[in-house]
Amino acid sequence: MKILAFETTCDETSAAVMKGRSLRSNAVYSQIKLHRKYSGVVPELASRAHLEKIPVILRSALKRAQNLPPLKPGDFDAVAFSRGPGLPGALMVGRVAAEAAAELSGAPLIGVNHLEGHLLACEFKNGRAARPLEFPLLTLIVSGGHTELWHARGYGDYRVLGRTRDDAAGEAFDKVAKLLGLPYPGGPSVEKEAARARGKGPDFPRPFMPGTMDFSFSGLKTAVSYYLASELGGDFYKKGLRLQPAQRARVCKSFQDSAVETLVKKTSQAARSLGLKRIAVGGGVSANGALRAAFGALEGFEVRFSEKAYCSDNAAMIALCALRRLEAGGYKNSLKVAPDLAEPGW
Ligand SMILES: Nc1ncnc2c1ncn2[C@@H]1O[C@H](COP(=O)(O)OP(=O)(O)OP(=O)(O)O)[C@@H](O)[C@H]1O
Ligand SMILES: [Mg+2]
Repeated sequence: MKILAFETTCDETSAAVMKGRSLRSNAVYSQIKLHRKYSGVVPELASRAHLEKIPVILRSALKRAQNLPPLKPGDFDAVAFSRGPGLPGALMVGRVAAEAAAELSGAPLIGVNHLEGHLLACEFKNGRAARPLEFPLLTLIVSGGHTELWHARGYGDYRVLGRTRDDAAGEAFDKVAKLLGLPYPGGPSVEKEAARARGKGPDFPRPFMPGTMDFSFSGLKTAVSYYLASELGGDFYKKGLRLQPAQRARVCKSFQDSAVETLVKKTSQAARSLGLKRIAVGGGVSANGALRAAFGALEGFEVRFSEKAYCSDNAAMIALCALRRLEAGGYKNSLKVAPDLAEPGW
């Protein structure tokens, strides 16, 4: 079984080839540099960069998979793409590329939910889909645009238990980094600073939202901004005032502690309430070492993460979702029976 996949939901342009369970190539172009001066993704710039890079990335993925272009009929058994959620203009580029590739190679088209991709990324080990998920399990998707808990009962069978009501956890990392004058993307910058922290930092609230499996991270971000205003003056942002490095590191650590504790506690509570012993964590924020350590320390649960290379957006995870769907059989060309773009499941 040979699958070609595309990923263009946000600021990574990616194409991947899988043959059987082996990943033959996973070409990724990250637009981080393009968006860095704005401290966040600018949708129109993202769409334009996808348009420019998609032919290059496709060629690179095909070349690395030793299947030199041009595409010929019969090259692939399926062509997959991220159908959403994502930025509309960016999604369109991946979809059109996938439709053209499917037409050329005479293969069916599979629209994959991007967040399912973040979950199934946990199955890769050394370039192979070697660690199949065991169901049922509790899923935490924690990324730049989403923070969601799912009850995953099997491949394609996901029930959303809770979502963020405002900012995603990754977005909170990005915004806090911006407030502190740290480079985009904020997650890795905040984690690096937090690792340098010595002594006690400010106490930020834990937005547990009792009684619901929903999340909320905008208040935590606001708490950081109030703290900075109290230390530097209300117009700190306009004047470009910054904390001293040692204090900045402590703020990063306090913020990260709060985000991590909230994510781990809410996820384990949800798993317990459903009697689930397995947890899988996916998405860009799952690269965070403190989050991995806190989940690792949980007793009574088996917790899975993806290898760090597959935490942020990539087409390999999209190819893998398509593979699982083909293996399950009963597949129909997904554009003719298009599910809600934003909802997980087949
Ligand atoms: N080490 C880290 N610690 C915390 N956050 C991190 C880390 N590495 C990356 N992130 C965050 O992960 C996010 C990017 O992840 P990802 O690429 O999965 O998100 P996205 O594709 O933009 O959003 P979505 O998947 O929701 O559509 C950014 O917000 C980034 O700051
Ligand atoms: Mg993503």
